[in-house]
Amino acid sequence: MSEMTLAKAYEKYFKIGAATSPREFPSHANLLRTQFNSMSPENQMKFGPLHPEKAVWNFDPADQLVSFARENGMVFRAHAPVWHGGTNPWIFENDAGGEVSREELLERLEEQFTVFAARYGDFVQYWDVVNEAIDDDPAKPVLRETNWLRILGEDYLATAFKLAKKVAPNVQLFYNDYDEWLPHKREKICKLLKKLQDEGAPVEGFGMQSHMSIYNVDIDDVKRSIEAFAAFGVRLHVTELDISLYDPKDRSLPAPLLTDEMFERQAQLYIDLFKVYREYSDVIDNVTTWGVADDYTWLNYWPVRGRTNYPLLFYADHRPKPFVQEIIEAAL
Ligand code: GLA
Repeated sequence: MSEMTLAKAYEKYFKIGAATSPREFPSHANLLRTQFNSMSPENQMKFGPLHPEKAVWNFDPADQLVSFARENGMVFRAHAPVWHGGTNPWIFENDAGGEVSREELLERLEEQFTVFAARYGDFVQYWDVVNEAIDDDPAKPVLRETNWLRILGEDYLATAFKLAKKVAPNVQLFYNDYDEWLPHKREKICKLLKKLQDEGAPVEGFGMQSHMSIYNVDIDDVKRSIEAFAAFGVRLHVTELDISLYDPKDRSLPAPLLTDEMFERQAQLYIDLFKVYREYSDVIDNVTTWGVADDYTWLNYWPVRGRTNYPLLFYADHRPKPFVQEIIEAAL
């Protein structure tokens, strides 16, 4: 492996990021600071982890990530307060134990955003304000049924984006969602982006999560989605890239045996994806993997616990997988 790194090789195209958490310091610090120049918090800036109880804030884990990024000259993608996950029960409850009113939930959201922006707003460049608001079922309305939708109403995303812009005017604001290359999801994402623009929501970017599998990606679909989203004039980030070796619909245990052919398909898909990202680098500013190296990945726990996955660019011992060299050379 030459001294050239992913982050350096891709300087002229886009930032190379990883999602991480303080438990990966110092074990992953060297890999992070050499191969990556963008960082995302795995959970530490979600509503619940940051503000676990009404009167309790938990800044320390997020502070650690921000300090590391600052010290190492990395850009920072904050993620993701308004989501159906990542909240704690208190957020939707009033003091009497019933459901919080619309007014009170809006106050809590504004407080959350204001505190967040005061602490991190001068450093964070990008922020996934709303995550995964879409219902996957093509037969159902666009918006997923969540506490946010039920309590705040149909325009809750626009409200959240406007609040975020008010308190953090210099941060580029993103809507973030998964399966974005699949045609049925692409259609709903476009409907939502249109709705947000009609409502005057300051949504400036779309985050393509890109949790992929060797079984479910057609590279032409990836291109079609990039073009469809770019037509809205928003910036694009790949925010949570990983490529599972299993079929996400297959939850069997023990895990299916992994073959060389499966690893080859993963390598080829990574090579093909980076080629597409380079081709569309006029609209793509950031490519982030959901994890740093294969020694820690959420895919060991999802969609079932108990099978080991190897979805990232670096082996568990932090050496780059052989195809990374090809991805680097293709950028030079
Ligand atoms: C989604 C979320 C992320 C993370 C992953 C799984 O993609 O956006 O924040 O929770 O699931 O780890």
